[in-house]
This record gives sequence, structure tokens and C-alpha cells, in this order.
Amino acid sequence: MKTVSTLFDLRAARLSLYGTVGLVPTMGYLHEGHLSLIRRAKLECDSVAVSIFVNPTQFGANEDLSKYPRDLTRDLSLIEPLGVDLVWNPTPEIMYPAGYQTWVEVEAMTRPLEGAMRPEHFKGVTTVVTKLFNAIQPHKAYFGQKDAQQAAVIRQMVRDLNFPLEVIVCPTTREADGLAMSSRNKYLEGADRPAATILFHALSAAKSAYEGGERNAEKLREIMKVTLAAEPRAQMQYVSCADYDTLEELDMVSGKTLLSMAVLLGKTRLIDNFVLG
Ligand code: PAF
Repeated sequence: MKTVSTLFDLRAARLSLYGTVGLVPTMGYLHEGHLSLIRRAKLECDSVAVSIFVNPTQFGANEDLSKYPRDLTRDLSLIEPLGVDLVWNPTPEIMYPAGYQTWVEVEAMTRPLEGAMRPEHFKGVTTVVTKLFNAIQPHKAYFGQKDAQQAAVIRQMVRDLNFPLEVIVCPTTREADGLAMSSRNKYLEGADRPAATILFHALSAAKSAYEGGERNAEKLREIMKVTLAAEPRAQMQYVSCADYDTLEELDMVSGKTLLSMAVLLGKTRLIDNFVLG
């Protein structure tokens, strides 16, 4: 496994990769969810590249970038046994040198949900993912369904900008009690950890209603709200029942649908979602 930082070294290492290349973009502090993306990429591609970069431009002014967990040595020891060929770990100065001024922005679908709570977030994500795609030139790129809006925005960007690659969205990896795996789970303290399963329960309750024939989107949103309200530690930020591709809120559920939510437990902000249909 080759680990490089500079663009010069990355280009040389990329040239030596054989066949189809799968890219797993990450911000490090890897967990089983990331490892499942890497395993999938290994199955489907001849060579696998992983990027590890805590992207400053997707953090808001009120989000503490300096506190984002980082442990490169641990990350490398987790991915080496999976047979990863190349790791790119650029510095912020390599990605955003002095005078940097070019941004990639997807419009309407970045405004609701996470975009409403984190206004500059997706501009940072789409810009850095564009830079990763341009530098590594993968044939396939792997993202987790856990960040459902991010995955939808990147699919849209790839279509709109004619990136010659396939976006593969992989299922959310969960703890035994249903909590979606996330690097942020490590911030959950004391009783907030067991209480965090309320997101999974709220989504499961709405899914059961859907499977029982409920198609009224407002009723599904209400079921999620009522379930969340039963957990006093959970503070709901939003619940949504939206079209899977456009992320527009629905009146009635017919095609592929995204149930999603953001909830605060103490100071930790969690998101989760289920796909229906
Ligand atoms: O999902 C993430 O970890 C990040 O948003 C990504 C896609 C690596 C871009 O920084």
C-alpha cells in the first residue's frame, strides 16, 4: 500500500495503478462503515484508492474543525489488511493553496435538510469531491447511504458535470442496536449513547407504517416525530419524507423515497435515514 501526500507523488502513484480504479473518499477516523465501502470497492475494481482528508471547507463557523477526530496511524493499520493500493492524505495547503478561488455548487437540492442547518456544507463537499475525482480519476466512487443527501448531491453533480465515473452508494452499517455508524458517535456521552437508538426506532416505526400501507407522507413524518418525542434526551432538528433523487418533500409516497432526520443528543448531532420503495 502506497501512502502519498503531494500532488506530484499522487500522479506518479496513480499512473502505476492497474485496471479499473475504485475510490473511497473519507475524512479518516475510519469505522466499519468505511471498511465496508473499501471491501465493496475491492470486489468491484482492479485497484482501490482511499483518500483521507478532513476537508475544512465543509465545516461551518460554528462547527469545530480542530476537534474532528483524527488518527492516521490507526486508519492506515485498518486499511492495509484490506488490500488498498493507494492512500492519498493531502494537507489543507495542497488542496486549498493561497489564492484558491474555485468552487463547485449544486443548487436546489442542497438547500433543504442538512443544507438548511449547514449552509456552506455541500459547497465544500462538492468542491473537494470534484478535486478528488480530478486528481485520482477513478472509474467508480463509493459513498455511504448514511449521508443520504450527500450521496444524492454527488450523483446529481456527476450527471450534471459529465464526470466519467459511476457513483456507488452502499448500505448504512449499523451497531447491533441499530445506531448508524459514524465518526461522531464517539462524542455520545453516558446515557446519550443508548438514547441514540431512538433515530433507528423512529425510522423503523415509519417504515412499518409504510409496509402496512400508509402512503401519506405527512403521517409518516408525524410517526417519526412522535417516536422521537418519547425520548427526552433527543432534540429533533428535522424529519423528512422526500423524493429519493430530488429531495423534495412529498405529499404522497409513490416511488423511491427517503425518510431522514437530524437529532441532537446532548451536543452530538446525529443523522440517519431509511430508503423506501
Ligand atoms: O463523507 C465524508 O466523509 C466527506 O463528506 C467526504 C465525501 C469525504 C468529502 O470530504
